[in-house]
Amino acid sequence: MQLPKKKTPKALKFNATFTYAPAPESKSHVKLQEQYGLFINGKFEKPNSGKYFETINPATEEKLAMVADANAKDVDKAVKAARTAYDKVWSKMPGKERAKYIFRISRMLQEKARELSVLETMDGGKPIRESRDIDIPLAANHFFYYAGWADKLDYAFPNQQPKSLGVAGQIIPWNFPLLMAAWKIAPALATGNTIVLKPAETTPLTALKLAEIIQESGLPEGVVNIITGAGATGAALVQHPGIDKIAFTGSTDVGKLIQRATAGTNKRLTLELGGKAANIIFEDAPLDQAVEGIINGIFFNQGHVCCAGSRLFVQESVYQKVIRKLKDRIETLIVGDPLDKNTDIGAINSKQQLDTIKKYISIGIKEGGEIHESSCAIPKKGFYCRPTLFTNVSQSHRIAREEIFGPVLAIQTFRTDDEVIEKANNTAYGLSAGVWTDKGSKIFNMTSKLRAGVIWANTFNKFDPTSPFGGYKESGFGREGGVQGLSAYLKSF
Ligand code: NAI
Ligand code: MG
Repeated sequence: MQLPKKKTPKALKFNATFTYAPAPESKSHVKLQEQYGLFINGKFEKPNSGKYFETINPATEEKLAMVADANAKDVDKAVKAARTAYDKVWSKMPGKERAKYIFRISRMLQEKARELSVLETMDGGKPIRESRDIDIPLAANHFFYYAGWADKLDYAFPNQQPKSLGVAGQIIPWNFPLLMAAWKIAPALATGNTIVLKPAETTPLTALKLAEIIQESGLPEGVVNIITGAGATGAALVQHPGIDKIAFTGSTDVGKLIQRATAGTNKRLTLELGGKAANIIFEDAPLDQAVEGIINGIFFNQGHVCCAGSRLFVQESVYQKVIRKLKDRIETLIVGDPLDKNTDIGAINSKQQLDTIKKYISIGIKEGGEIHESSCAIPKKGFYCRPTLFTNVSQSHRIAREEIFGPVLAIQTFRTDDEVIEKANNTAYGLSAGVWTDKGSKIFNMTSKLRAGVIWANTFNKFDPTSPFGGYKESGFGREGGVQGLSAYLKSF
């Protein structure tokens, strides 16, 4: 018997007008106060300055809350609270007792993960998918990881009798607000130091939520103090004579100021500054996977990442193919409401940062780069930037040398391993790099010759609390994460 012939369905044509239905995350469970004080000695206090500033949602330009602007007197009060807590309680507490508090903070972050994720997205503009899947879980993970070390310092540093430093002043940026707070606070607590932390002025809200969590956790008063303000508050903290250590993450310019201010003092210093990472694609790489890695490397968090893969080097033989794939891929990226679960690229963190990015885009064009940007629509209100590629870029172009901190990729080509090593290392920075190849031997060759603190192979922008992170050259010094992250908070042996 002959079976009736099956009709093959017509190939489904890609419908260019196809869009995802909106899938916004609810804000209803986020509890925000109208005004926040300074978290000093376990309590929220009015600032001595009497001044407050607003923090907005960069996706809508709406005001979210007023936040205290700490002056030098407030900083002094916070440092004194931290000193008293260090002398009377924290430095005397056995590691296994300190660990309990750190574990508790980790658990509470997990319990409040939903609220923290939405708040992180509202205050800073990053897509909810990232704050939900990366920032908040990793922040909890950092506390969890370092809690485990608190009673094992003697094993981490055998025969060295590790001793805490005292009071740590910590200044963090706006690109990973809660995660950077966790990177700073968790190892300092595990090693027995007390803390004055200052979040960035555009993203203070999750740090203030963390202050509420710390209050609820029962951590002894004054062990962690969280004060808000802008550059002047940070500078007052750096200059305070009662500080034993400064840990800073932010711009290279401010890092240099801090290094000058702490020179000749007894203050220990770690700096995690800018970057201009090379992402290198060899012809034998799995190209589709590599293209996804490039996209993740530069468009993740709107390119607000110090280790962003902002310089792409493609081996000449696959250049045309890779560029075509990249252009196709950026057309499909969804730019818009960061609270929407479909959004790939959210809002730029501030008007100021958007202006910086636009300035670099026009410099790139003026210097002869060929621009290609996604044709997607962007919201009228709020700060947004389309994903942008530059080809025809040379080593001397500013967009290939300077940190843009936005969704802008500068693309160059190469022929040989030695040529790309030379080009990739020809930068003032050295925070991270990426290598895409099928050959293990090539990976080992590249990773031993690239001057960067972190090198990813066939992946990009992957973080783990057990793995140390930090830079070479103008990207700073000192390591955060892993066992190495503990030594930054211990007396030198
Ligand atoms: P920034 O370095 O001014 O801000 C980082 C932190 O330092 C904030 O908490 C700020 O209040 C504080 N700060 C500012 N001036 C200070 C001073 N004199 N003393 C002590 N603390 C001070 O960074 P900004 O202006 O927000 O961004 C400018 C550029 O810096 C970006 O375009 C980007 O290239 C780079 N950047 C790099 C970051 C990284 O993760 N490595 C993070 C943020 C910015
Ligand atoms: Mg904000």
